[in-house]
Amino acid sequence: MTPIPIDALTELDAAIELAALARDIARHDRLYHAKDQPEITDADYDALVARNRAIEARFPQLIRSDSPSRRVGAAVAEGFAKSRHGEPMLSLDNVFSPEEFSDFCKRIRRFLGLAESDALHFVGEPKIDGLSINLLYENGVFIKGATRGDGAEGEEVTANLLTIPSLPRHLTPPFPASIEIRGEVFMEKADFLSFRATQEAAADAREARRAAGEKLGDAVVIPANPRNAAAGSVRQLDARITATRPLKLLAYAMGAASEAPAETHHDFLGALRRWGFAVNPLSRRLESEDAAEHFQAEIGAGRAALPYDIDGVVYKLDRIDWQRRLGFVGRAPRWAVAWKFPAEQAVTKLLDIEIQVGRTGALTPRAVMEPVNVGGVVVRHATLHNEDEVTRKDVRIGDTVMLQRAGDVIPQILGVVLERRPADAKPYAFPLNCPACGSHAIRDGEDVVRRCTGGLTCPAQATERLRHFVSRRAMDIEGLGEENIQTLFDAGLIKSPADIFRLHQQRDALARFEGWGERKIGKLLEAIEARCSVALERFIFALGIRRIGEQNAKLLARHYHNLEAWRAAMIAAHIIGSEAREELGSIQGIGPAIAEELVEFFAEPRNLAALDDLAGEVSPLAVEETNAADSAFAGKTMVFTGTLEKMTRDEAEVLAERLGAKVTKSVSKKTDFVVVGADAGSKAAKAAELGVKILTEAEWLDLSAP
Ligand code: IVH
Repeated sequence: MTPIPIDALTELDAAIELAALARDIARHDRLYHAKDQPEITDADYDALVARNRAIEARFPQLIRSDSPSRRVGAAVAEGFAKSRHGEPMLSLDNVFSPEEFSDFCKRIRRFLGLAESDALHFVGEPKIDGLSINLLYENGVFIKGATRGDGAEGEEVTANLLTIPSLPRHLTPPFPASIEIRGEVFMEKADFLSFRATQEAAADAREARRAAGEKLGDAVVIPANPRNAAAGSVRQLDARITATRPLKLLAYAMGAASEAPAETHHDFLGALRRWGFAVNPLSRRLESEDAAEHFQAEIGAGRAALPYDIDGVVYKLDRIDWQRRLGFVGRAPRWAVAWKFPAEQAVTKLLDIEIQVGRTGALTPRAVMEPVNVGGVVVRHATLHNEDEVTRKDVRIGDTVMLQRAGDVIPQILGVVLERRPADAKPYAFPLNCPACGSHAIRDGEDVVRRCTGGLTCPAQATERLRHFVSRRAMDIEGLGEENIQTLFDAGLIKSPADIFRLHQQRDALARFEGWGERKIGKLLEAIEARCSVALERFIFALGIRRIGEQNAKLLARHYHNLEAWRAAMIAAHIIGSEAREELGSIQGIGPAIAEELVEFFAEPRNLAALDDLAGEVSPLAVEETNAADSAFAGKTMVFTGTLEKMTRDEAEVLAERLGAKVTKSVSKKTDFVVVGADAGSKAAKAAELGVKILTEAEWLDLSAP
């Protein structure tokens, strides 16, 4: 059927056709993105999009809220639009015992400078295993919702969240003008079981159709646990599917807000209820550490009878002013912790031990086992950590082993059930050569890890480095997953990170891969192009230098500000005793072992060549001097010494960093301020000698006050 020329369309024709186009394009997007099973060619798809645009251009008043033109580009390409959280969504540190919980309390007391006798009040909340989400309300109206994603930005899933009955669309006044509410979307156990039964029936029916030679639609996903079921449901590309899933929502935290709604977490939960959110009715205010310990036992005892799965209890310090002072370390708050229940255990048979080669050449033994159900999850693999661990546990192929799974942690082998050892089981001989490249695998000094000496010539190391480089927390190149990296590496198209940014010169070669159409290639190249400028800290982390995780990468980026300065300093730091080495060692959080790792990385010509090659393709963004530009300490180097009275030194150092200062441990010519508390020793003397500005605690408090 030839389409009616745009000029000849009546308004009614146009409205009908736009509705049909919105539906059809959404369906083709789904076929393409969700399952890689497009039904039409890229050219036909482009024609539909073009037709939709042309009609909208003539009848702008008819543009639909679900119009495909509103979702073009990245949004459509990736299925969901990205949504940046007003404040990052963090994770929680775990504790597993009263001792560890007590250590957590001690750390709080130490940081805040409280006495043993000062009571800490907490709120305990069952920790439901679901999917955490962030909901933005403006003037009391639900504006948008997103998944946690990498913590800084997630996927916008507003339409899907709107299908959850317990999500308030409007808040009951009074409420802050703008507030982000965080909570957990989850599926109750009974709902999960019936949902899974439905999916299994659908999978069987699909199998029968396949046997009958019919053309099949999307595969049916059978979720392994309620968490996966909830996550999969919220991440459906079609909200109508989400609407059929039995999802619930419980709210428990907030992100950015225009005003503080409460002074304690307990009162905040009250505010959440008044606004219209469901809050876990088991949440309880606890007036001491002992009360928390009792609560842990009580919830643990009632756990099996709860309608939903929990894996522990979250304890949050009640006073919000204290929460603010404590702040965060890495990705977790200092003021809250997840106290996990003991791990689930099971027994199974060890079939094999595989050796995996990591990006730094570490040989890691991995157990392959007869599949076994451990606390609701089917487990086939477990880590054996390293050579010594294999020796210590004396695990042998054919052994029956005891497994443990703690929360989301990778399953571990606890030990061997010796009574069931087969008579012919031989001790495992750890390989002395890399299974990937055959190079010698050696152990250095005290290192428990045996490493391949092949360096970048080892294909396993090279691909692992590339995988790390493109991974979400590193360069975050969408579309370059594990499999694609292997394909491109095997084909010789990428050997080093810089090659990724030259892939655009290889369009023809890419098009020869099975299933790589124009659209897929275009999207991949676009995603790569988009990463040509990234934050310096991501860039540093992406290099995959040993011991340089996200946190250390951030410290380095903040300290050196740009790639050139960092590169020059790392090379200069090669000389022990040099100013550059001293400076590196003085960065708060960078210890000698880390400094050594950095210097070694830069001393290796192949690494430097790969870095420079990469820097020719990618320009990491310089770190702005500070995000607190008007503070007196922005961009300044500070040292704290002696005992402070009004806050602990830890707290003062964190505060100084928040104000944009660099905190170092030793005084040098580069130090701008030394804050001197009581009983200050040699550092104060050195500051006086070098003519560095000295501040008393009172002056510091005055200048640092908001
Ligand atoms: S508070 C800074 N409260 O646990 C506070 N989290 O490991 C961060 N979770 O991503 C979160 N129940 O998915 C908080 N009552 C609760 C929770 C809870 C479950 C999950 C949440 C979060 C993860 C952190």
